[in-house]
Amino acid sequence: MILVTGGLGYIGSHTCVSLSDAGQDLVILDNLSNSKAAVLERLREICPNVVQFEKGDIRDKATLTRVFNTFKISAVLHFAGLKAVGESNKSPISYYDNNVGGTLCLLEAMTAAAVRTLVFSSSATVYGDCSDVPIPEDNSRSATNPYGRSKLFIEDILADLYASDNQWRIARLRYFNPVGAHESGRIGEDPVGVPANLMPYIAQVAVGHREQLNVFGGDYPTRDGTGLRDYVHVMDLAEGHVAALRGLQRQGGMLTVNLGTGRGTSVLELINAFSLVSQREIPYKIVERRLGDVAQSYAAVGHAEQILGWKAKRQLSDMCADHWRWQIENPDGYPES
Ligand code: NAD
Ligand code: UFG
Repeated sequence: MILVTGGLGYIGSHTCVSLSDAGQDLVILDNLSNSKAAVLERLREICPNVVQFEKGDIRDKATLTRVFNTFKISAVLHFAGLKAVGESNKSPISYYDNNVGGTLCLLEAMTAAAVRTLVFSSSATVYGDCSDVPIPEDNSRSATNPYGRSKLFIEDILADLYASDNQWRIARLRYFNPVGAHESGRIGEDPVGVPANLMPYIAQVAVGHREQLNVFGGDYPTRDGTGLRDYVHVMDLAEGHVAALRGLQRQGGMLTVNLGTGRGTSVLELINAFSLVSQREIPYKIVERRLGDVAQSYAAVGHAEQILGWKAKRQLSDMCADHWRWQIENPDGYPES
């Protein structure tokens, strides 16, 4: 059985489907701080294998001990954490507590239970303000906010752990910009409040929940002046986790891998692609740059292909079509239960 922390969240839930499709039984541990119980019902609809659920916090030792004692866990996929950059500037302590403190609790429980296979959700944010693209894994790392620094700390903790005992099998996966939804339209991204990220914002404008999109900056040194990002379909990302788990089971070691497509898409290109797929107009206005944004960020993807045999398959039009299906079929996100 695989333990999935944060498995009711956006990326974790999609990864549960891919793991289940690959024949794995799962137990999800989530405190529902940024997700709803309805996700579990939807997952049980679409996952072919067993999906167990424990409501609890990764910082709670008793909960972790119970989970490891109850289920025969062979590996952990660790998504649980806080992820909002702006919020992390306002509440750094809760970011370090949840992300770094939570990971330490998890690692202690894994050590006690002799479970030493871990796939960790890192982020392209560890490349700081690097705009030299495509970005390879051996690029220098830095942080521009407490969220990013929490990912740097955790990456370093995992490296120290592996150095201390190379029986550990650890993958540090650096996601670029996950978007889209499962093709069933049953699960997807359900941000609380005003979306901070581009794709969910566009989708809410298209469905009529918001009037227009603010495009942050039209004077970047890019082909149309707007920021370029590496949008990657969340199901490709999910399959990347299955590949990483297999890679660890096959060869062990510590892997550090970018998960992206290797292609940069501008804000205006994404607006156009979404508009085409949804057949809706997306009104927008170009405003000031957002503080802390880089002009461009996209992944060097050769390493993922070489060591995991994984490559993103889905196109930008698939990302928009699947995101749109989820949005139109669930205009208010998941129901409260
Ligand atoms: P999400 O907020 O949708 O999912 C995180 C889940 O973890 C939520 O269900 C939340 O309730 C749960 N959680 C949070 N703290 C917890 C705790 N202490 N104990 C138990 N459960 C807890 O986020 P996501 O977009 O699915 O991201 C998953 C991971 O990927 C995060 O670690 C995030 O930093 C990382 N990541 C996300 C992105 C992105 O753009 N979405 C990019 C790079 C990296
Ligand atoms: N953008 C807009 N309008 C919006 C939202 C975003 O124009 O309303 C633009 C941004 O300026 C940027 C692009 O759309 O050019 C993508 O922005 P996102 O916020 O969707 O994504 P980022 O690449 O800025 O941020 C993501 C994650 C962060 C992470 C960062 C670096 O959301 O958590 O990548 O890895 F820190």
